[in-house]
Formats: sequence, structure tokens, C-alpha cells
Amino acid sequence: MSVNDFIQSNRDRFLNELLDILRIPSVSADPAYKGDVLKMAEATKAAMLAAGADKAEVMETPGYPIVYGEKMVDPSKPTVLVYGHYDVQPADPVELWDSPPYEPVIKKTDIHPEGAIFARGACDDKGQFYMHVKAFEAMVQTDSLPCNVKFIIEGEEEVGSENLDNFLEANKELLKADVVLVSDTGIIANDTPSITTGLRGLSYVEVEVTGPNRDLHSGLYGGGVPNPINILCEMIASLKDEHQHITVEGFYDDVDELSAEERAEMAKAPFSEEAYKKSIGIGDVEGESGYSVPERVSIRPTLDVNGIWGGYIGKGAKTVIASKAYAKISMRLVPNQDSETITNLFQSHFEKIAPKSVSVKVTPHHGGEAAVTPTDSVAYKAASMAMEETYGKKPIPVRSGGSIPIVASFESILGLKTVLFGFGLDSDAIHSPNEHYGVFNYFQGIKTIPLFYKYFDQLKK
Ligand code: BES
Ligand code: MN
Ligand code: MN
Repeated sequence: MSVNDFIQSNRDRFLNELLDILRIPSVSADPAYKGDVLKMAEATKAAMLAAGADKAEVMETPGYPIVYGEKMVDPSKPTVLVYGHYDVQPADPVELWDSPPYEPVIKKTDIHPEGAIFARGACDDKGQFYMHVKAFEAMVQTDSLPCNVKFIIEGEEEVGSENLDNFLEANKELLKADVVLVSDTGIIANDTPSITTGLRGLSYVEVEVTGPNRDLHSGLYGGGVPNPINILCEMIASLKDEHQHITVEGFYDDVDELSAEERAEMAKAPFSEEAYKKSIGIGDVEGESGYSVPERVSIRPTLDVNGIWGGYIGKGAKTVIASKAYAKISMRLVPNQDSETITNLFQSHFEKIAPKSVSVKVTPHHGGEAAVTPTDSVAYKAASMAMEETYGKKPIPVRSGGSIPIVASFESILGLKTVLFGFGLDSDAIHSPNEHYGVFNYFQGIKTIPLFYKYFDQLKK
């Protein structure tokens, strides 16, 4: 039986198995879900074994475990290391979901006429890492697996992969491979395949501004004392100038600028500003002067408030000047910027711009480095040929704005390059209510992955 026939005849089962793992709420950020995260690790191990892995293991870390599995067909053959994550983002705000986040349903949408699976983690990253498990099964069962395969599926990606670097350091021999294959990104559209060739880094901080030593009556004190919420808003507003340049001293010092040729090449990827605005319901786009929208969200660094709070936010009105105000701020970084350096620059800047009427505290959260992946490698060629065969079009290389910090670690610790072989769409609402993944995309991935193995093995010879 051919790989494609095997996939075709097991279609319903492949889909139902994905629905089953989507029912496990493996939210790494919230300790209330600890049991489910661990259950998901066990389910991942079981899935690897059922698919034909020689061995699979739930490997402990100081945080959530990493699930390792492998099948060695022949030591002289190339080895592919598949990385993915079994943890998911919290489902909040749950009331904005049209169906419960952990009760997957398949519904047709304009973009997914064949139906899409709605559930937290459907696209990021359960649906995508599971394509690898099923593609692997299809190759094993049809005796057509041409390479050795090693899986590492982790459970802390959404909280910064804090334990993965140590795991890589401690398991260099176990993880020996020729390339890392990751499906945790997307394509431009279902009729426009693309391969992600770069990711942004991340520096994430929480800030606290303290004014008076207690909450005050806003009538008795208002007008005579610093209001930390007002001051925080002013400080945040000053972090960008009228050109939307970030004002933190030294922020751009290490930024890799793209050449005019590279920018011209980027501009060839299809992009409609009108459709973009319409898809997210905005009146106009906004961003750094001198750059296009695709550039602003991929090759340029940025700074965004992710959350802001303080004072009275309950029902009705309460007249109060809060003692404290808080915000969570992310900075997306580009190649050559160092996340720790940027965090330090931010901290000094934020302390410097604080008026002496308040005190400020900056607490760094997880960060990660940007990455660029080669387009002239055997692995990229294999991925490109595989997609060209299933989509009927050569995929376009594109830089993405998201972050997968571990990609930089694969290179620095294991010396391995990564191919970002994702099949999701930006409109799949990852991290948002109503996350979904196209049924077409799921099976397209399962069909395309075996071709990657085939061409990678052929080109390696
Ligand atoms: N899979 C995403 C990253 C992504 C999505 C990259 C789509 C490119 C296209 C990943 O799970 C993610 O959400 N990463 C986080 C960073 C992490 C340190 C929490 C992010 O980008 O915010
Ligand atoms: Mn992901
Ligand atoms: Mn994510």
C-alpha cells in the first residue's frame, strides 16, 4: 500500500485521534491544569509507540516533562529530529468561544470550506505536531520510512521553554541528528504555500509603578498627588516617538538591517493591506515609518503592552487614586539583538524616565533569541520540493513575526539547523478564542511530511 493510500484509508481515525488529544486541557501556564499536562505527556508517549516508535519515554525536567521517541532504521541513514509542543495557551476569555475550548467541533468557514477543528491547541501545536506522528505511522506501516526519526515534544513552550536548554545540553548524544523539523508556524494561504525562514526573539517584562503608600480618596487627594496609573500611561506613551520608533536608548544598535535586494525579494510575497485590515476589523494599519506591514511584523523589532491594570475595575464607580499600577510589555526582537541586553536597556530606560514622585520596579519574564533558517540547505530544498508536490506550487520563503526561542538553542547547543515546516494560517486564531485548524491543513501536512523524508534522504546521498 502506498503512503497516500494508507493516509486515505485511515482518515477518520487520524482525525478522531487528534480530537481525543484536544480534549486534554494541557495548559502549562496555569498550575490548576498540572494533572492534564502530565496526562497529555503520557498520551503523547502512547501515540508515538502506537505509531511505531522503537521506544518512547516521558523524560523528567524540573518543570513539565519532555516526551522523547525514536525509530532508528539504519545508522547510515540521515536522522530527522522532530520538535513540537504538547502544551497549550490558556483558553481565556472562555466566554468569547462559540463552542467549549476543550470539546472540539468541526465547522466550515469561508477560509476552510472543508471544515476546521475548533479547540484550544488545534493549530498551536497539537494539530501540527500530531501530523508528524501520523505521517510517521503511515511511513512505518507502509515500509517507506527512509530516515531515522527522533521526536522531542515538550510541555513548556507556551511558558518560555525554561528547561529545554538544559535538556539539550544534557542529551547531546541522544539528540544527534542532521536537521530539526518543526511544524509550529504557518503558510500564507491554502493556495499559497510558504516556508518560514525566520522568527523574532522576545524580551518580556512586567512593570510596577508605585505612587502613594495606600489607595487614596480621589476627591480629597486628587490633583495634588502622583497618580501611578496616569504616570504609567504617560511613561508607556513615551516609549514610542511620532515615527513609532522605540525610544529606549540603544534599542536598535544591534538590529540586522536587510539589504535593498532582500527587501525587494520580501515584497514579492502576496499581501493585501485591504484584506488585512478587513480580516481583523481595523480602520487603518499602524507602525514604524518607512516599512511595509509585512516588514513591520517580521524583520523589525517592536514593543507592545500586553496587559495593563490597577485601581478600581469592578462594577460601577469607586472614587480612588490607586497606590500601584502595572503593565506587561513584550518586545519582539530581530536577529542579532540579544534578549537579555534589551531587557537591561529597557529596565534602565524605564527607571530613568520615571518622575521622582513614583518608584518603579521592572521584573523580567522569559525571553528568547530570534532565528533565521537557511534557504540553501538540503533540508530546505527537500521541504520545498515536498510542498511543491502537494500544493502544485513552489513555496515562498517568508520571515515570521512569532517566536520559537528553542530554534536558536538547537543551533547554539546542538549545532543543528531547523526547517520551519508549518501548515497553519494566521487566521486560525492561535492564542485567541475560537482557535481552529483546517481539516485540509491537517491532512495536507500528513501527506507532505513523508515527501520531506523522501527528498531529504535522496538529496543527502
Ligand atoms: N507557535 C507559536 C509561534 C509562532 C506561531 C511562530 C505562528 C510563527 C507563526 C508559539 O507557540 C508561540 O506562541 N510562541 C510564543 C513565544 C513563547 C516564548 C511564549 C510567542 O510567539 O508569543
Ligand atoms: Mn506553538
Ligand atoms: Mn503558541
